[in-house]
Amino acid sequence: MSNTPHDLATATTARDLRAVVRDWRMEGLSVGVVPTMGALHEGHLTLIRSALATCDRVVVTLFVNPTQFGPGEDYAAYPRDQERDTALIADEGAHLLFAPSVAEMYGEPVESDVALTEVHVPGLDSVLEGAFRPGHFIGVATVVAKLLNLVQADHAFFGEKDYQQLQVITRMAYDLNIPTEIHGVETVREADGLAMSSRNVYLKSSERAVASQLYATLQQLADDFRAGGQGSDAGRLELKARERLAQAGFTSVDYITIVDATTLAPVNVYDPQRPARVLVAAKLGRARLIDNISIQPTDPA
Ligand code: PAF
Repeated sequence: MSNTPHDLATATTARDLRAVVRDWRMEGLSVGVVPTMGALHEGHLTLIRSALATCDRVVVTLFVNPTQFGPGEDYAAYPRDQERDTALIADEGAHLLFAPSVAEMYGEPVESDVALTEVHVPGLDSVLEGAFRPGHFIGVATVVAKLLNLVQADHAFFGEKDYQQLQVITRMAYDLNIPTEIHGVETVREADGLAMSSRNVYLKSSERAVASQLYATLQQLADDFRAGGQGSDAGRLELKARERLAQAGFTSVDYITIVDATTLAPVNVYDPQRPARVLVAAKLGRARLIDNISIQPTDPA
């Protein structure tokens, strides 16, 4: 690991990115990558710090990936500020920013009716977020497979805030024999528990106070589930959690559910030997918030 002060280099083409990484490899340096869509916050900076603690050289990618947004979603409105993001990435001490255009990532269509190659992770990509945002994880898995192939990193870092995404990517990398180790990094929260997210900017100040109830409700559900032990009834507790969110002022709850931490299959009865996770997605005004915590007795959330 190098602690020498250095400038942040920027690449916008696959060719330039590969040339830099090839030179690092020739020097025998290890490489980490932090894929992002920009609008960076403390959660992203924590990923960069984890990468710098593990790898000699760190690439941060900045690409708002159109294929993971559905029709009517916020692709056009997604917050973008490359100048601010670049300064933050440089301050953290990352080595290379890869900020490609859409054409650089996806090329020109060969014929208008020819589909792009897509990566599916059946089972994991169609439940929960996948059911409410059809095609979302196909876009995520496809772009992450492309980014991992482009960077050829030893390690890649993703936030646990997007827990289902982390499972989809881990499984995708395993199934496709991508030789990059996938790391999940703990969610970074505001003082009141709200998970940091680029989309929190959509919250009005009156909604911001309500938003902290998401984490509080997850914690209550996890506590009740553990306390119930073998006699716990996930369905009843999930219903109670939904009611709590509605009473707090959430506009709607897409899901709040306890699942197996790896397969994301529903879990009905508490088993301290079986890692489980509680996942939530709920709307509050214009914002759709997602969050999750671990249910294991000893794990931090
Ligand atoms: O989590 C994100 O910011 C995106 O889904 C990712 C992993 C960078 C892929 O576009």
